[in-house]
Amino acid sequence: MSVEWWKNSLGYQIYIRSFKDGNNDGNGDLLGIIEKLDYIKSLGVDFIWINPCFESPMDDCGYDVKNYFKIDKIYGNTNILKKLIKKAHSLNIKVVLDFVINHTSIKNEWFIKSENKQEPYADFYIWKNGKLVNGKMQEPNNWQSFFGGSAWHYSEKRKQYYLSIFTKTMPDINYENDIPFIEMEKVLKFYAEMGVDGFRIDAVAHIGKNLTFEDCKNENKSFTEYSNLSNTHKYLKKFNTFFSKYNLVTMGELGGEPTKKDLLKYSKKKELDMVFSFEQLGVFSKENKIECNKLINCLKEKQQLSNKGGWSVLFWLNHDYGRLISKINGEKDPKNSQLCLAALMYFLKGTPIIYNGEEIGMQNYEFKKITDFKDVWAKNILSQSKNKQEDFKNLQENSRDHARTIMQWSGEKNAGFSESKAWTYLNKNYKKCNVEISEREENSILNNYRKIFRLRKQYINVVTYGKFKFFNNNGVLGYIINHNKDSLKITANLSGNDAVINGNKNVIYSNFTIGKTLKPYQVIIEKV
Ligand code: GLC
Repeated sequence: MSVEWWKNSLGYQIYIRSFKDGNNDGNGDLLGIIEKLDYIKSLGVDFIWINPCFESPMDDCGYDVKNYFKIDKIYGNTNILKKLIKKAHSLNIKVVLDFVINHTSIKNEWFIKSENKQEPYADFYIWKNGKLVNGKMQEPNNWQSFFGGSAWHYSEKRKQYYLSIFTKTMPDINYENDIPFIEMEKVLKFYAEMGVDGFRIDAVAHIGKNLTFEDCKNENKSFTEYSNLSNTHKYLKKFNTFFSKYNLVTMGELGGEPTKKDLLKYSKKKELDMVFSFEQLGVFSKENKIECNKLINCLKEKQQLSNKGGWSVLFWLNHDYGRLISKINGEKDPKNSQLCLAALMYFLKGTPIIYNGEEIGMQNYEFKKITDFKDVWAKNILSQSKNKQEDFKNLQENSRDHARTIMQWSGEKNAGFSESKAWTYLNKNYKKCNVEISEREENSILNNYRKIFRLRKQYINVVTYGKFKFFNNNGVLGYIINHNKDSLKITANLSGNDAVINGNKNVIYSNFTIGKTLKPYQVIIEKV
Protein backbone atom coordinates (compact mmCIF):
# COMPACT_ATOMS: atom_id res chain seq x y z
CA MET A 1 0.00 0.00 0.00
CA SER A 2 1.19 3.49 -0.68
CA VAL A 3 2.09 5.81 2.16
CA GLU A 4 -0.97 7.15 3.98
CA TRP A 5 -1.91 10.45 2.31
CA TRP A 6 -1.51 12.51 5.45
CA LYS A 7 2.15 11.58 5.79
CA ASN A 8 3.02 13.55 2.68
CA SER A 9 0.65 16.40 3.36
CA LEU A 10 0.62 19.99 4.50
CA GLY A 11 -2.23 21.12 6.73
CA TYR A 12 -3.74 24.53 7.33
CA GLN A 13 -5.69 25.28 10.51
CA ILE A 14 -8.67 27.59 10.18
CA TYR A 15 -10.12 29.34 13.21
CA ILE A 16 -13.43 29.63 11.46
CA ARG A 17 -14.97 32.49 13.41
CA SER A 18 -12.02 34.78 12.62
CA PHE A 19 -11.03 33.63 9.15
CA LYS A 20 -13.40 35.12 6.58
CA ASP A 21 -16.97 36.27 6.80
CA GLY A 22 -19.00 35.18 3.77
CA ASN A 23 -22.37 36.66 4.76
CA ASN A 24 -21.24 39.87 6.44
CA ASP A 25 -22.62 39.28 9.91
CA GLY A 26 -19.23 39.87 11.53
CA ASN A 27 -18.48 36.16 12.08
CA GLY A 28 -16.21 34.08 9.91
CA ASP A 29 -18.08 31.12 8.39
CA LEU A 30 -18.07 28.19 5.97
CA LEU A 31 -18.92 30.42 3.00
CA GLY A 32 -15.88 32.51 3.83
CA ILE A 33 -13.68 29.41 3.82
CA ILE A 34 -15.09 28.39 0.43
CA GLU A 35 -14.15 31.84 -0.88
CA LYS A 36 -10.57 31.41 0.27
CA LEU A 37 -9.91 27.83 -0.79
CA ASP A 38 -7.95 28.93 -3.85
CA TYR A 39 -5.72 31.06 -1.66
CA ILE A 40 -5.23 28.12 0.70
CA LYS A 41 -4.37 25.90 -2.24
CA SER A 42 -1.78 28.43 -3.39
CA LEU A 43 0.16 27.71 -0.19
CA GLY A 44 0.55 24.09 -1.20
CA VAL A 45 -1.99 22.90 1.36
CA ASP A 46 -3.37 19.35 1.16
CA PHE A 47 -5.85 19.45 4.02
CA ILE A 48 -7.64 21.98 6.17
CA TRP A 49 -8.56 21.56 9.82
CA ILE A 50 -11.56 23.69 10.76
CA ASN A 51 -12.06 24.53 14.44
CA PRO A 52 -15.48 23.42 15.76
CA CYS A 53 -18.39 24.62 13.68
CA PHE A 54 -21.23 22.72 15.37
CA GLU A 55 -24.18 24.31 17.12
CA SER A 56 -22.90 25.86 20.32
CA PRO A 57 -23.67 28.53 22.92
CA MET A 58 -20.08 29.67 22.17
CA ASP A 59 -18.95 29.81 25.78
CA ASP A 60 -15.66 28.36 24.56
CA CYS A 61 -16.10 29.41 20.96
CA GLY A 62 -17.53 26.13 19.75
CA TYR A 63 -15.70 23.67 22.00
CA ASP A 64 -18.95 23.56 23.95
CA VAL A 65 -21.07 21.57 21.52
CA LYS A 66 -24.83 21.72 21.87
CA ASN A 67 -25.69 19.59 18.85
CA TYR A 68 -23.08 17.65 16.90
CA PHE A 69 -25.41 17.07 13.99
CA LYS A 70 -26.04 20.73 13.28
CA ILE A 71 -23.74 23.43 11.98
CA ASP A 72 -24.04 26.56 14.10
CA LYS A 73 -26.14 29.14 12.30
CA ILE A 74 -23.39 31.75 12.47
CA TYR A 75 -21.23 29.38 10.42
CA GLY A 76 -23.79 28.14 7.88
CA ASN A 77 -25.54 24.80 7.56
CA THR A 78 -24.85 21.25 6.42
CA ASN A 79 -25.55 22.11 2.79
CA ILE A 80 -22.82 24.73 2.85
CA LEU A 81 -20.48 22.26 4.53
CA LYS A 82 -21.23 19.81 1.72
CA LYS A 83 -20.42 22.52 -0.84
CA LEU A 84 -17.21 23.27 0.96
CA ILE A 85 -16.19 19.61 0.96
CA LYS A 86 -17.00 19.36 -2.74
CA LYS A 87 -14.98 22.39 -3.72
CA ALA A 88 -12.10 21.42 -1.41
CA HIS A 89 -11.99 17.93 -2.89
CA SER A 90 -12.04 19.33 -6.41
CA LEU A 91 -8.88 21.23 -5.47
CA ASN A 92 -7.39 18.12 -3.89
CA ILE A 93 -7.76 19.50 -0.41
CA LYS A 94 -9.04 17.15 2.26
CA VAL A 95 -11.28 18.34 5.08
CA VAL A 96 -10.65 17.63 8.76
CA LEU A 97 -13.14 18.77 11.42
CA ASP A 98 -12.66 19.22 15.15
CA PHE A 99 -14.16 16.41 17.21
CA VAL A 100 -14.84 17.37 20.81
CA ILE A 101 -15.11 14.13 22.76
CA ASN A 102 -14.08 14.97 26.29
CA HIS A 103 -17.13 17.11 27.05
CA THR A 104 -20.21 18.73 25.59
CA SER A 105 -22.06 21.92 26.35
CA ILE A 106 -24.32 21.92 29.35
CA LYS A 107 -27.06 22.78 26.82
CA ASN A 108 -26.58 19.53 24.91
CA GLU A 109 -29.70 17.37 25.12
CA TRP A 110 -27.57 14.48 26.38
CA PHE A 111 -26.71 16.58 29.42
CA ILE A 112 -30.26 17.78 29.96
CA LYS A 113 -31.44 14.17 29.93
CA SER A 114 -28.58 13.09 32.15
CA GLU A 115 -29.33 15.78 34.68
CA ASN A 116 -32.91 14.50 34.77
CA LYS A 117 -31.62 10.92 35.17
CA GLN A 118 -33.42 10.01 31.96
CA GLU A 119 -32.22 6.63 30.71
CA PRO A 120 -30.08 5.69 28.91
CA TYR A 121 -28.37 9.03 29.54
CA ALA A 122 -28.26 9.02 33.36
CA ASP A 123 -24.58 8.04 33.46
CA PHE A 124 -23.51 9.78 30.27
CA TYR A 125 -21.53 12.28 32.37
CA ILE A 126 -19.46 11.94 35.54
CA TRP A 127 -21.81 12.49 38.47
CA LYS A 128 -20.76 12.15 42.12
CA ASN A 129 -22.28 12.88 45.48
CA GLY A 130 -20.82 15.73 47.48
CA LYS A 131 -18.78 15.16 50.65
CA LEU A 132 -20.32 16.19 53.94
CA VAL A 133 -17.65 18.00 55.95
CA ASN A 134 -18.69 19.46 59.32
CA GLY A 135 -22.27 19.39 58.22
CA LYS A 136 -21.47 21.30 55.02
CA MET A 137 -21.76 19.89 51.53
CA GLN A 138 -18.48 20.02 49.60
CA GLU A 139 -17.17 18.96 46.21
CA PRO A 140 -16.46 15.21 45.87
CA ASN A 141 -12.69 15.88 45.84
CA ASN A 142 -10.13 18.67 45.52
CA TRP A 143 -9.56 18.47 41.75
CA GLN A 144 -9.10 21.82 40.08
CA SER A 145 -10.04 22.62 36.51
CA PHE A 146 -7.83 23.83 33.65
CA PHE A 147 -9.64 27.14 33.41
CA GLY A 148 -9.57 27.93 37.14
CA GLY A 149 -11.51 26.84 40.21
CA SER A 150 -12.90 23.48 41.25
CA ALA A 151 -13.55 20.89 38.54
CA TRP A 152 -16.89 20.01 40.20
CA HIS A 153 -20.18 21.85 39.90
CA TYR A 154 -23.39 21.25 41.76
CA SER A 155 -26.63 20.48 39.98
CA GLU A 156 -29.64 21.57 42.01
CA LYS A 157 -31.81 19.35 39.87
CA ARG A 158 -29.90 16.16 40.37
CA LYS A 159 -28.51 17.02 43.81
CA GLN A 160 -25.12 15.80 42.67
CA TYR A 161 -21.89 17.25 41.32
CA TYR A 162 -20.73 16.83 37.73
CA LEU A 163 -17.09 16.88 36.67
CA SER A 164 -16.00 19.59 34.31
CA ILE A 165 -12.23 19.88 33.84
CA PHE A 166 -12.34 22.96 31.60
CA THR A 167 -15.16 25.28 32.57
CA LYS A 168 -18.51 25.00 34.33
CA THR A 169 -20.58 24.83 31.16
CA MET A 170 -18.60 21.94 29.61
CA PRO A 171 -19.37 18.73 31.57
CA ASP A 172 -17.03 15.76 31.03
CA ILE A 173 -18.34 12.62 29.38
CA ASN A 174 -18.19 9.28 31.19
CA TYR A 175 -16.56 6.74 28.89
CA GLU A 176 -16.94 3.96 31.44
CA ASN A 177 -20.43 3.97 30.02
CA ASP A 178 -21.17 2.56 26.54
CA ILE A 179 -23.84 5.06 25.55
CA PRO A 180 -21.43 7.93 24.71
CA PHE A 181 -19.57 5.59 22.34
CA ILE A 182 -22.82 4.74 20.61
CA GLU A 183 -23.77 8.41 20.25
CA MET A 184 -20.30 9.51 19.15
CA GLU A 185 -20.14 6.80 16.52
CA LYS A 186 -23.31 8.27 15.01
CA VAL A 187 -21.55 11.65 14.81
CA LEU A 188 -18.55 10.14 13.04
CA LYS A 189 -20.77 8.23 10.62
CA PHE A 190 -22.81 11.37 9.85
CA TYR A 191 -19.75 13.39 8.84
CA ALA A 192 -17.88 10.54 7.18
CA GLU A 193 -20.89 9.98 4.92
CA MET A 194 -20.84 13.68 4.10
CA GLY A 195 -17.28 13.27 2.83
CA VAL A 196 -15.25 14.58 5.77
CA ASP A 197 -11.79 13.02 5.67
CA GLY A 198 -10.84 13.07 9.32
CA PHE A 199 -10.90 14.68 12.72
CA ARG A 200 -8.63 16.58 15.03
CA ILE A 201 -9.52 15.10 18.37
CA ASP A 202 -9.85 17.74 21.00
CA ALA A 203 -8.43 17.32 24.50
CA VAL A 204 -8.15 13.59 23.92
CA ALA A 205 -5.49 13.08 26.61
CA HIS A 206 -8.15 13.78 29.23
CA ILE A 207 -10.95 11.40 28.35
CA GLY A 208 -9.75 8.91 30.98
CA LYS A 209 -9.94 9.93 34.66
CA ASN A 210 -8.48 8.43 37.80
CA LEU A 211 -11.51 6.37 38.68
CA THR A 212 -10.75 6.28 42.41
CA PHE A 213 -11.74 9.97 42.45
CA GLU A 214 -9.56 10.47 45.50
CA ASP A 215 -8.09 13.87 46.37
CA CYS A 216 -5.07 14.88 44.32
CA LYS A 217 -1.96 15.04 46.51
CA ASN A 218 -0.89 18.22 44.82
CA GLU A 219 -4.01 20.22 44.10
CA ASN A 220 -2.10 22.49 41.72
CA LYS A 221 -1.30 19.47 39.58
CA SER A 222 -4.86 18.20 39.46
CA PHE A 223 -4.48 17.59 35.73
CA THR A 224 -2.44 14.46 36.56
CA GLU A 225 -5.71 12.88 37.76
CA TYR A 226 -7.19 13.25 34.30
CA SER A 227 -4.36 13.24 31.77
CA ASN A 228 -2.73 10.45 29.79
CA LEU A 229 -4.02 7.66 32.01
CA SER A 230 -4.34 4.03 30.95
CA ASN A 231 -8.12 4.21 30.51
CA THR A 232 -7.63 6.97 27.90
CA HIS A 233 -5.81 4.38 25.79
CA LYS A 234 -8.55 1.87 26.42
CA TYR A 235 -11.28 4.25 25.26
CA LEU A 236 -9.25 5.36 22.27
CA LYS A 237 -8.83 1.78 21.10
CA LYS A 238 -12.60 1.55 21.07
CA PHE A 239 -12.92 4.83 19.20
CA ASN A 240 -10.34 3.61 16.76
CA THR A 241 -12.62 0.87 15.54
CA PHE A 242 -14.96 3.66 14.35
CA PHE A 243 -12.18 5.76 12.83
CA SER A 244 -11.02 2.77 10.82
CA LYS A 245 -14.54 1.71 9.88
CA TYR A 246 -15.27 5.14 8.39
CA ASN A 247 -11.76 5.61 7.02
CA LEU A 248 -11.13 8.78 9.02
CA VAL A 249 -7.69 10.14 9.70
CA THR A 250 -7.15 11.34 13.28
CA MET A 251 -4.85 13.81 14.94
CA GLY A 252 -5.04 14.03 18.70
CA GLU A 253 -4.33 16.97 20.95
CA LEU A 254 -2.16 15.68 23.78
CA GLY A 255 -1.95 18.12 26.64
CA GLY A 256 -1.38 17.26 30.29
CA GLU A 257 2.37 16.73 29.89
CA PRO A 258 2.54 13.37 28.12
CA THR A 259 5.87 11.55 28.34
CA LYS A 260 7.72 10.44 25.21
CA LYS A 261 6.50 6.94 25.98
CA ASP A 262 2.90 8.13 26.16
CA LEU A 263 3.21 9.88 22.80
CA LEU A 264 4.55 6.76 21.19
CA LYS A 265 1.84 4.64 22.71
CA TYR A 266 -0.87 6.87 21.28
CA SER A 267 0.54 7.08 17.81
CA LYS A 268 2.34 3.81 17.28
CA LYS A 269 -0.37 1.54 18.47
CA LYS A 270 -2.74 3.17 16.04
CA GLU A 271 -4.95 4.80 18.58
CA LEU A 272 -4.32 8.07 16.75
CA ASP A 273 -2.66 8.62 13.38
CA MET A 274 -0.87 11.81 14.39
CA VAL A 275 -0.17 13.50 17.69
CA PHE A 276 0.08 17.14 18.69
CA SER A 277 2.52 17.66 21.54
CA PHE A 278 3.61 21.02 22.80
CA GLU A 279 7.33 20.97 23.81
CA GLN A 280 8.22 23.48 21.10
CA LEU A 281 6.25 26.18 22.88
CA GLY A 282 8.85 26.05 25.64
CA VAL A 283 11.84 27.05 23.53
CA PHE A 284 11.36 30.80 23.99
CA SER A 285 12.91 32.80 26.82
CA LYS A 286 11.16 35.42 28.96
CA GLU A 287 12.88 38.05 26.83
CA ASN A 288 11.15 36.53 23.77
CA LYS A 289 14.29 35.03 22.35
CA ILE A 290 14.92 31.59 20.94
CA GLU A 291 16.81 29.21 23.24
CA CYS A 292 18.91 27.24 20.79
CA ASN A 293 19.73 24.25 22.97
CA LYS A 294 16.12 23.72 23.85
CA LEU A 295 15.15 24.19 20.23
CA ILE A 296 17.49 21.56 18.84
CA ASN A 297 16.49 19.07 21.54
CA CYS A 298 12.86 19.61 20.83
CA LEU A 299 13.32 19.13 17.08
CA LYS A 300 15.21 15.93 17.82
CA GLU A 301 12.41 14.64 20.00
CA LYS A 302 9.73 15.29 17.44
CA GLN A 303 11.87 13.53 14.90
CA GLN A 304 12.50 10.53 17.10
CA LEU A 305 8.78 10.00 17.61
CA SER A 306 8.19 9.79 13.87
CA ASN A 307 11.25 7.57 13.49
CA LYS A 308 10.12 5.11 16.09
CA GLY A 309 6.84 4.48 14.35
CA GLY A 310 4.74 7.27 15.82
CA TRP A 311 3.87 10.40 13.86
CA SER A 312 4.18 14.05 14.94
CA VAL A 313 2.20 17.03 13.84
CA LEU A 314 4.75 19.79 13.16
CA PHE A 315 3.46 23.17 14.25
CA TRP A 316 4.47 26.41 15.90
CA LEU A 317 1.12 27.78 16.95
CA ASN A 318 -2.59 27.28 17.10
CA HIS A 319 -5.71 28.98 18.44
CA ASP A 320 -4.70 28.49 22.09
CA TYR A 321 -1.38 30.38 22.14
CA GLY A 322 0.05 33.79 21.34
CA ARG A 323 1.32 34.50 17.83
CA LEU A 324 4.72 33.07 16.89
CA ILE A 325 6.30 36.31 15.75
CA SER A 326 5.40 37.97 19.06
CA LYS A 327 7.12 35.16 20.97
CA ILE A 328 10.38 35.97 19.23
CA ASN A 329 10.20 39.75 19.06
CA GLY A 330 13.18 39.96 21.45
CA GLU A 331 15.32 38.80 18.52
CA LYS A 332 16.79 41.56 16.33
CA ASP A 333 15.03 40.31 13.24
CA PRO A 334 11.75 38.60 14.19
CA LYS A 335 10.62 38.08 10.61
CA ASN A 336 13.71 36.13 9.60
CA SER A 337 13.76 34.39 12.98
CA GLN A 338 10.31 33.07 12.10
CA LEU A 339 11.63 31.82 8.77
CA CYS A 340 14.47 30.02 10.56
CA LEU A 341 11.96 28.35 12.87
CA ALA A 342 9.68 27.49 9.98
CA ALA A 343 12.37 25.84 7.88
CA LEU A 344 13.69 23.91 10.90
CA MET A 345 10.30 22.61 11.98
CA TYR A 346 8.73 21.99 8.62
CA PHE A 347 11.51 19.87 7.15
CA LEU A 348 11.21 17.28 9.89
CA LYS A 349 9.55 13.97 9.28
CA GLY A 350 5.94 14.46 10.35
CA THR A 351 2.95 16.45 9.12
CA PRO A 352 3.25 20.25 9.17
CA ILE A 353 0.19 22.31 9.98
CA ILE A 354 0.28 26.09 9.70
CA TYR A 355 -2.18 28.26 11.58
CA ASN A 356 -4.14 30.92 9.69
CA GLY A 357 -2.24 34.19 9.81
CA GLU A 358 1.11 32.55 10.60
CA GLU A 359 1.98 32.75 6.91
CA ILE A 360 1.79 36.55 6.97
CA GLY A 361 3.41 37.00 10.38
CA MET A 362 0.32 38.18 12.25
CA GLN A 363 1.13 39.53 15.70
CA ASN A 364 -0.33 39.64 19.19
CA TYR A 365 -2.98 42.23 19.96
CA GLU A 366 -2.45 45.02 22.49
CA PHE A 367 -4.93 44.38 25.27
CA LYS A 368 -5.30 47.51 27.33
CA LYS A 369 -8.01 46.76 29.87
CA ILE A 370 -8.98 43.82 32.01
CA THR A 371 -12.38 43.83 30.35
CA ASP A 372 -10.87 43.48 26.87
CA PHE A 373 -10.65 39.69 26.88
CA LYS A 374 -13.29 37.61 25.15
CA ASP A 375 -11.98 34.16 25.94
CA VAL A 376 -13.61 32.12 28.71
CA TRP A 377 -10.24 31.06 30.15
CA ALA A 378 -9.09 34.66 30.53
CA LYS A 379 -12.44 35.67 32.01
CA ASN A 380 -12.36 32.81 34.52
CA ILE A 381 -8.81 33.66 35.58
CA LEU A 382 -9.64 37.30 36.09
CA SER A 383 -12.91 36.71 37.89
CA GLN A 384 -11.17 34.46 40.44
CA SER A 385 -7.93 36.39 40.57
CA LYS A 386 -6.18 37.26 43.81
CA ASN A 387 -3.77 39.52 41.99
CA LYS A 388 -5.58 41.10 39.06
CA GLN A 389 -2.66 43.24 37.92
CA GLU A 390 -0.30 40.29 37.68
CA ASP A 391 -2.87 38.05 36.00
CA PHE A 392 -3.68 40.84 33.58
CA LYS A 393 0.01 41.15 32.72
CA ASN A 394 0.25 37.43 32.08
CA LEU A 395 -2.81 37.48 29.90
CA GLN A 396 -1.44 40.40 27.91
CA GLU A 397 1.32 37.96 26.93
CA ASN A 398 -0.54 34.67 26.80
CA SER A 399 -4.22 35.23 26.19
CA ARG A 400 -5.77 32.91 23.64
CA ASP A 401 -7.51 35.97 22.18
CA HIS A 402 -4.22 36.91 20.47
CA ALA A 403 -4.49 34.03 18.04
CA ARG A 404 -8.15 34.72 17.41
CA THR A 405 -8.07 38.30 16.10
CA ILE A 406 -9.49 38.46 12.61
CA MET A 407 -7.45 37.38 9.62
CA GLN A 408 -5.83 40.32 7.86
CA TRP A 409 -6.64 39.96 4.20
CA SER A 410 -6.04 43.52 3.04
CA GLY A 411 -5.60 47.13 4.15
CA GLU A 412 -9.28 47.84 3.43
CA LYS A 413 -12.11 48.28 5.88
CA ASN A 414 -12.14 45.52 8.54
CA ALA A 415 -9.01 44.16 6.87
CA GLY A 416 -11.13 42.60 4.14
CA PHE A 417 -12.56 40.14 6.68
CA SER A 418 -16.15 41.41 6.56
CA GLU A 419 -18.28 44.36 5.54
CA SER A 420 -19.53 44.47 9.11
CA LYS A 421 -17.79 45.01 12.41
CA ALA A 422 -16.17 41.76 13.46
CA TRP A 423 -17.09 39.77 16.58
CA THR A 424 -13.53 40.24 17.85
CA TYR A 425 -10.55 42.54 17.47
CA LEU A 426 -8.48 43.58 14.49
CA ASN A 427 -4.78 44.16 15.01
CA LYS A 428 -3.90 47.77 14.32
CA ASN A 429 -0.97 46.74 12.12
CA TYR A 430 -3.33 45.38 9.43
CA LYS A 431 -2.47 48.05 6.88
CA LYS A 432 1.14 46.84 6.83
CA CYS A 433 0.58 43.20 7.61
CA ASN A 434 -1.95 41.54 5.35
CA VAL A 435 -2.27 38.93 2.63
CA GLU A 436 -2.57 41.43 -0.21
CA ILE A 437 0.73 43.16 0.61
CA SER A 438 2.44 39.85 1.37
CA GLU A 439 1.47 38.55 -2.07
CA ARG A 440 3.23 41.51 -3.69
CA GLU A 441 6.44 41.42 -1.67
CA GLU A 442 8.76 38.86 -3.14
CA ASN A 443 10.53 38.25 0.16
CA SER A 444 7.46 38.24 2.42
CA ILE A 445 6.93 35.50 4.98
CA LEU A 446 4.07 34.29 2.77
CA ASN A 447 6.25 33.83 -0.29
CA ASN A 448 9.02 32.25 1.76
CA TYR A 449 6.52 29.80 3.24
CA ARG A 450 5.44 28.90 -0.28
CA LYS A 451 9.06 28.18 -1.26
CA ILE A 452 9.69 26.12 1.87
CA PHE A 453 6.62 23.96 1.30
CA ARG A 454 7.28 23.59 -2.42
CA LEU A 455 10.72 22.24 -1.60
CA ARG A 456 9.40 19.97 1.11
CA LYS A 457 7.09 18.41 -1.48
CA GLN A 458 9.88 18.11 -3.98
CA TYR A 459 12.07 16.27 -1.48
CA ILE A 460 9.28 14.46 0.34
CA ASN A 461 10.99 11.09 0.03
CA VAL A 462 14.14 12.40 1.65
CA VAL A 463 12.12 13.96 4.46
CA THR A 464 9.91 10.92 4.98
CA TYR A 465 12.44 8.14 4.65
CA GLY A 466 15.73 9.84 5.43
CA LYS A 467 18.01 9.56 8.46
CA PHE A 468 18.43 12.75 10.46
CA LYS A 469 21.57 14.05 12.13
CA PHE A 470 21.22 17.19 14.24
CA PHE A 471 23.88 19.79 15.02
CA ASN A 472 24.17 22.96 17.06
CA ASN A 473 27.41 24.95 16.93
CA ASN A 474 26.84 27.92 19.20
CA GLY A 475 23.52 28.84 17.68
CA VAL A 476 24.28 27.80 14.12
CA LEU A 477 22.01 24.83 14.10
CA GLY A 478 20.04 22.42 12.02
CA TYR A 479 20.23 18.95 10.59
CA ILE A 480 21.34 16.80 7.70
CA ILE A 481 18.92 14.31 6.17
CA ASN A 482 20.36 11.37 4.25
CA HIS A 483 18.30 9.21 1.97
CA ASN A 484 19.94 6.98 -0.65
CA LYS A 485 21.92 9.32 -2.87
CA ASP A 486 20.05 12.44 -1.80
CA SER A 487 21.03 14.53 1.16
CA LEU A 488 19.65 17.79 2.43
CA LYS A 489 21.15 20.11 4.98
CA ILE A 490 19.15 22.76 6.79
CA THR A 491 21.22 25.40 8.60
CA ALA A 492 19.80 28.30 10.57
CA ASN A 493 22.03 30.99 11.96
CA LEU A 494 20.49 31.99 15.28
CA SER A 495 23.86 32.94 16.79
CA GLY A 496 23.36 36.68 16.33
CA ASN A 497 26.65 36.94 14.35
CA ASP A 498 27.86 36.20 10.87
CA ALA A 499 28.77 32.54 10.59
CA VAL A 500 31.21 30.70 8.38
CA ILE A 501 29.81 28.12 6.00
CA ASN A 502 31.64 25.46 4.10
CA GLY A 503 30.78 25.59 0.44
CA ASN A 504 27.28 26.61 -0.47
CA LYS A 505 27.05 25.67 -4.08
CA ASN A 506 23.84 23.78 -3.94
CA VAL A 507 21.69 26.10 -1.93
CA ILE A 508 18.07 25.47 -2.87
CA TYR A 509 16.53 27.87 -0.38
CA SER A 510 17.69 30.93 1.49
CA ASN A 511 15.87 33.86 3.01
CA PHE A 512 18.82 36.19 2.16
CA THR A 513 21.06 36.41 -0.89
CA ILE A 514 23.90 33.96 -0.54
CA GLY A 515 27.25 35.40 0.46
CA LYS A 516 30.49 34.01 1.84
CA THR A 517 29.04 33.87 5.32
CA LEU A 518 25.65 33.14 6.79
CA LYS A 519 24.09 36.36 7.96
CA PRO A 520 22.36 36.53 11.34
CA TYR A 521 18.91 34.91 10.99
CA GLN A 522 19.75 33.44 7.62
CA VAL A 523 18.48 29.95 7.01
CA ILE A 524 19.58 27.90 4.05
CA ILE A 525 18.66 24.54 2.65
CA GLU A 526 21.36 22.84 0.64
CA LYS A 527 21.67 19.68 -1.35
CA VAL A 528 24.81 18.07 -0.03
C1 GLC B 1 -8.59 22.20 23.57
C2 GLC B 1 -8.87 23.32 22.59
C3 GLC B 1 -9.21 24.57 23.37
C4 GLC B 1 -10.44 24.29 24.19
C5 GLC B 1 -10.26 23.07 25.07
C6 GLC B 1 -11.56 22.59 25.62
O1 GLC B 1 -7.47 22.42 24.32
O2 GLC B 1 -7.77 23.49 21.75
O3 GLC B 1 -9.40 25.67 22.54
O4 GLC B 1 -10.73 25.40 25.00
O5 GLC B 1 -9.72 21.98 24.36
O6 GLC B 1 -12.34 22.04 24.60
